[in-house]
Amino acid sequence: MENNRTEFTMIQSVMLDDANDTLLILDQTLLPNEKVYLHVKEMKDVWDAIYKLKVRGAPAIGIAAAYGLYLGTKASKANTYQELQKDFIEVKTYLASSRPTAVNLFWALNRMENRFLQEAGKTLAAVKEALRQEAEEIREEDERVCESIGKHALSLLKENWGILTHCNAGTIATAKYGTALAPIYLGQEQGYNFKIYADETRPLLQGARLTAWELKEAGVDVTLICDNMSSIVMKEGKVQAVLVGCDRVAANGDTANKIGTSGVAILAKHYGIPFYVCSPLSTIDLECKTGDDIHIELRADEEITSQWYEKPMAPKDVQVYNPAFDVTDHSLITAIVTQNGIAYAPFDESLPKMFAQK
Ligand code: MRU
Repeated sequence: MENNRTEFTMIQSVMLDDANDTLLILDQTLLPNEKVYLHVKEMKDVWDAIYKLKVRGAPAIGIAAAYGLYLGTKASKANTYQELQKDFIEVKTYLASSRPTAVNLFWALNRMENRFLQEAGKTLAAVKEALRQEAEEIREEDERVCESIGKHALSLLKENWGILTHCNAGTIATAKYGTALAPIYLGQEQGYNFKIYADETRPLLQGARLTAWELKEAGVDVTLICDNMSSIVMKEGKVQAVLVGCDRVAANGDTANKIGTSGVAILAKHYGIPFYVCSPLSTIDLECKTGDDIHIELRADEEITSQWYEKPMAPKDVQVYNPAFDVTDHSLITAIVTQNGIAYAPFDESLPKMFAQK
């Protein structure tokens, strides 16, 4: 995308302040009311920022973890490569335990490890510098990937369409532009006149707090609905396509994304509306054969009962079930849009081809 793109897409969710050994993280839990960058130095604070969703969205989690791993390794007092490797693995293992579902976290940490191994034999300063470069490359690459996803996804959409999106797969969930929101920004520039429906995305309200805010800031026509209103907007003919991001796509196309996504996909199928998943290749996990292999994160009860309220909204000690993601069956997905093109069913054949393309 051009550098003079919608000013909003220039906002960065994660930045490295190398001179001060600090990671700057836009605290997404404070949005839309406050735009605050956390200055994070300690590994436990990087872990905490990922776990508490201060930085969230699969690609942004991967980027934060890569920078965290660099800073953690840079701080090591090791005198040999072997000692440094021990510290590196310790930090890597710790960061990997922050959230289980988004494969980008593990993808980015493993990529950092490959780079670490490639640098064996160099001075420790050179190894640390290589890790900084790798983390920067992961972030820069994500910008290019999102832009490319945006172009491919836009080719599936028509002017004046109503588009429903779930959770936040926008600029703040990535290095820039977003995945599911990238075609919306691109369409906005080209006068497509989209009308976006952002559902709230209970329980953590990424749709209301983040997507509605992000799109409104960018001047996009966005309407906020509650999660249980997707059926009526679809029935009323207001929605011509659904665009969502993802946290892990299995080899057969089953897709884990924010809780509630599969319900939207079932409704879209019922109303004959195309359901598109926008996915960087870094979110596709061919090692997972089907969605049954994807670890679904369970989160704290308070997210449902009290987090957003002045007073609890549920009886004390009520049993709560709070899965953070669900898996949309591949049969409900019209296409998976990657940076290398658009994959259609059968996904177990089309997805590997995406990795082979340039
Ligand atoms: O729990 P979150 O807010 O990290 O969940 C985020 C999502 O489910 C997004 O849709 C997904 O990570 C794609 S972000 C481009």
